[in-house]
Amino acid sequence: MYNGGDYSRSQQKAVGSKQKLFLPSASCRLHTKALVSEFVKVAAKSEIPTDTGKLVEAGGQEVALFQVSGKIYAIQNICPHQGGPLSEGGIHGTEVMCPWHGWNFDVTNGSCSFNPRIKVTCFKVKEDGEDIYVES
Ligand code: FES
Repeated sequence: MYNGGDYSRSQQKAVGSKQKLFLPSASCRLHTKALVSEFVKVAAKSEIPTDTGKLVEAGGQEVALFQVSGKIYAIQNICPHQGGPLSEGGIHGTEVMCPWHGWNFDVTNGSCSFNPRIKVTCFKVKEDGEDIYVES
């Protein structure tokens, strides 16, 4: 049976007398891993301030967490302008201001206030009691 990966005779192994087992190639396994995301615990809700952000790491990426009206949002930490740390910016309403040059980003959707074509990546967040998880 073909399941979408590379398929070659060298990757087949006999199982019983009639069945064959498909073993995905290394490139196929890498591709599959890239498509599979998972939620990782990154913080406790009480650690996330309401006037600025909190820097965490999820799946090897810097993520800035913000708490707005009791809800947690997660965006990329690196500002698309010149790399400022958005987690250190002040939050006003749903917008964080980059501490380096003042660009504003809406933490609920990632859009830049003066140019909606400029966006930061938003990450899905799950709350489980006090525990905060981010999709990586
Ligand atoms: S680095 Fe963020 S506004 Fe310039």
